[in-house]
Formats: sequence, C-alpha cells, structure tokens
Amino acid sequence: MPPETPGLPPVLTIDGPSGSGKGTISRAVAQRLGWHYLDSGALYRAVGVAAGWADLDLDDAGALVRCAFDTEIGFRDDPAGELRVLVNGHDATEELRTETAGAAASAIAAIPEVRAALKDRQRAFRRPPGLVADGRDMGTVIFPDAPFKVFLTASAEERAERRYKQLKDKGVSVTLDGLLREILARDARDASRAVAPLRPAEEAVRIDTTGLGIEAVVEQVLGIVGA
Ligand code: DC
Repeated sequence: MPPETPGLPPVLTIDGPSGSGKGTISRAVAQRLGWHYLDSGALYRAVGVAAGWADLDLDDAGALVRCAFDTEIGFRDDPAGELRVLVNGHDATEELRTETAGAAASAIAAIPEVRAALKDRQRAFRRPPGLVADGRDMGTVIFPDAPFKVFLTASAEERAERRYKQLKDKGVSVTLDGLLREILARDARDASRAVAPLRPAEEAVRIDTTGLGIEAVVEQVLGIVGA
C-alpha cells in the first residue's frame, strides 16, 4: 500500500464519464472494503433539482450558487440497502436519476462558485475507516492526496446501451440514438469546462470497462487498494 496522509483516513477515488460504471463499481467496492461512499454526482444533481423546484434560471449563476449553499442534502440507506437521497428533507432519489436532473447538474457543475460551495461537503465524507469517492474530479481536485486513484472509461456506445437498459427496466421510454447523443454532449461539456474538467489524475490507474462484467472490474479495483 502507498503511504497514507498522516491523520487522515484513506480515500479511493473513482472518476470517469457517465455510464462508465462508476456508481455500481464504487458502491460494490465500498461495501467490500467496509468504507464510506460518496456519490458526488448526487450533490450536483441535488442542487440541480432544488434549483428546478425553486424555478431558478440555469443562467443565473448567483442564484444557483446561493442554492448550492442553502440546499440540504442527506443520504441514508433504506431497509433494502438502497441509498436514498434527501433534498431539503424530501426523498428525491428517483427524480435525481432522470436525464433532466443529469443535464441540470452538468450545467450548474460548470459554475466555479457552485463547485467551491460543494467542496467542503464532499471532503466531510472522509471518515474512518476510509472513503470511496465517485465523481469527475475526486482524484484531481477534491482528494488530490488520495493514496488510491482509478479512472474508469467505456466506449460511448456501450455507455449508451447500459443507460438504455437501465431506463428500459424502469419503464422509461427513450431511444438508444437519443441517449448516445446526450452522452456525447455531456462528455464534451464535462471535459471542456474551464474548472475541474473531466480528466484522469496523472497517477490514476485507468480501466476500460468496455465488455467487462461488474465483478471483474470490482476485483481489479480491490487489487489496486491491496484488498
Ligand atoms: O455522475 P453523475 O452523472 O451523477 O453526475 C451528474 C453531473 O454532475 C455530471 O454531468 C457532471 C457533474 N459532476 C461534476 O461536475 N463533478 C463531480 N464530481 C460529479 C458530477
């Protein structure tokens, strides 16, 4: 194991584009390690949803920054072990997963002050015995000293297909073509923004999950942590 920052619990950062399998892999790895889990995308989505409830204009940066500071975001496990997300006290788990919430999150995530407003909240998740942090800039900006960094990728086509299956299972009607277009647009926006663009930390281990099953990726990641 590489040296850990003295006095701070270890962090495993798992960054990558949407549909790379980050969420599923991160939750499984956190469970196997018995570590805490941070779904940083849920924070951006929560602010996006709260902004929608308040009818805020997605071009009004000032109002969005205030919204990022003021929105209460809570996480809890339900009896089935599913992570539920509470936004201002309301269970918004399902709403957070919609494409609308994702697109709003991606737009507000490009505002530097919104990112700054969410920084300390993300760092507060670092508690013993350790943290698995899932997002876009976990290894580069939020936890640059993390001893373990992974960057997951997958082809855009495979990511669109995974999302298509997930949504179809939930009875949401979408087209594969439409999803692929949305994924490519979101990738471009997340990778080209001026602040904390999506890119691997230099020392991150890159894993291409195209064609790989969940368990195979989980084992690879556990191997990186030395577990
Ligand atoms: O991982 P996700 O799809 O839930 O994230 C939703 C959006 O939030 C994503 O398009 C970009 C943004 N995001 C971010 O900018 N930084 C993070 N650490 C996590 C998400």
